[in-house]
Amino acid sequence: MALPVVVDSEYLKEVDKARRDLRALIANRNCAPLMLRLAWHDAGTYDAKSKTGGPNGSIRNEEEFSHGSNNGLKKAIDFCEEVKEKHPKITYADLYQLAGVVAVEVTGGPTIDFVPGRKDSKVSPKEGRLPDAKQGVSHLRNIFYRMGLTDRDIVSLSGGHTLGRAHPERSGFDGPWTEDPLKFDNSYFVELLKGEYIGLLKLPTDKALLEDPEFRRYVELYAKDEDAFFRDYAEAHKKLSELGFVPSSKAISIKDGTVLAQGAVGVVVTAAVVILSYLYEVRKRGK
Ligand code: HEM
Repeated sequence: MALPVVVDSEYLKEVDKARRDLRALIANRNCAPLMLRLAWHDAGTYDAKSKTGGPNGSIRNEEEFSHGSNNGLKKAIDFCEEVKEKHPKITYADLYQLAGVVAVEVTGGPTIDFVPGRKDSKVSPKEGRLPDAKQGVSHLRNIFYRMGLTDRDIVSLSGGHTLGRAHPERSGFDGPWTEDPLKFDNSYFVELLKGEYIGLLKLPTDKALLEDPEFRRYVELYAKDEDAFFRDYAEAHKKLSELGFVPSSKAISIKDGTVLAQGAVGVVVTAAVVILSYLYEVRKRGK
């Protein structure tokens, strides 16, 4: 069993530096879409019942990155390795999820709350846990419900296809979903409704989002309200990035490198101060 990750101030500093390195690397190599796909494929194997899979860095195992659905991701794993070499303290699990968060951020998407402390695993799940693009509504639900996610999460996360493209040699599909595949916006949903696909791309799973009335409701909302999309996407992405992960102190949450709350530790310290000053007052009055 992997040891818990100690998220102390040293670790947080390294996360901050890795974030900066990832920003530069993603800008240099133009690889935001691939990095987002890496983060999602590491996390998307989660099975809530058996508590196996999930964002645990296991995609770096050859056994897992050679699954058909992970075609092309070795490149992103190697890019992350360059950052890992500079910041060896950071777990692969944290690094891949941080890369996903940075990819969304640097392409103009919402800021996603990032809580570090994920453990690495060497155990890879069997092939077949990620969605198959050739299937439809019930398959999508089976896969995402298994992770513990909802219909709203399915649709908002599918908006991740605002970035990137399909490659015939990787998936058999071809072309981008949107006109500007390096900009994170709500155009995936706008294009979906228009039915205008550049490069004639149309995954059966994309169509499923229009066929099912519950899914379609969100597609229509996100196509006309980008703020609603960004809000729901940021929430769903955080959930995805934390499947099966219990932060060590429910504490430290970093947005743009700023520690927002020291959670448990802060509460305990504050409570101790309040109690001590109360006791001091009581004693003083008693004198
Ligand atoms: C809903 C089920 C999903 C299916 C069936 C699916 C399927 C696919 C397929 C077939 C590709 C093309 C791969 C290639 O040929 O390079 C792809 C690419 C991509 N997917 Fe998904 N995906 C799904 C959900 C997601 C989610 C939840 C995210 C992230 C939040 C995501 C992010 C991406 C990105 C960014 C790319 C572009 C990669 C690149 O440009 O290299 N996908 N997806």
